[in-house]
Amino acid sequence: MSLTLVYILCCIVVDRNSMLTKDFGIALYNPINLFNVGGVLRNAHVFGASFVSIIKKDFVYKRMKIDTTNATKHLSFKVYDCMQEFLEDVPNSYKVLGVETYGEIDLPNLIHPKKCVYVFGPENGSLPASYISPQNAVKIDTKYCLNLSTTTGIVCYDRTSKELLW
Ligand SMILES: C[S@@+](CC[C@H](N)C(=O)[O-])C[C@H]1O[C@@H](n2cnc3c(N)ncnc32)[C@H](O)[C@@H]1O
Repeated sequence: MSLTLVYILCCIVVDRNSMLTKDFGIALYNPINLFNVGGVLRNAHVFGASFVSIIKKDFVYKRMKIDTTNATKHLSFKVYDCMQEFLEDVPNSYKVLGVETYGEIDLPNLIHPKKCVYVFGPENGSLPASYISPQNAVKIDTKYCLNLSTTTGIVCYDRTSKELLW
């Protein structure tokens, strides 16, 4: 392989890494399973999210082995008592998008807002539609509902893969 080709490949890799935007966050509404929370934190960290929020009263975080990257050391992690408190804290420049089975936006059609927080529902229920309307929620077309942590990985990957379109 010629030196020029190596140089070009290096540039592409560096460029791709720099495209991992920090302008997005993930919020979990009333998560139950700490193993899932660990998986979500790991996904968020490796895909370059700048924050993870937990919306749950009296939530106590405990690091799980699945989070091999120790994500809370690398991104902002905050717990909110309720959805209202969380939404009031989201900067105006950020779009809030729910990710829920009742969503009216099909993920393949989603053009990700540059600054966005994706809100996910609990393992045993769904997001409150009174706060996150179906028009502002994304759906992944699946036969049955997905595991919470898996869903965050799919959304993060979709965002990353579409960044080239911006
Ligand atoms: C295990 S699911 C909860 C049950 C789900 N709300 C239902 O209708 O059966 C946990 C969370 O993962 C996300 N999720 C799972 N599958 C999804 C899908 N196909 N489309 C969008 N979000 C999904 C949602 O945020 C959901 O609240």
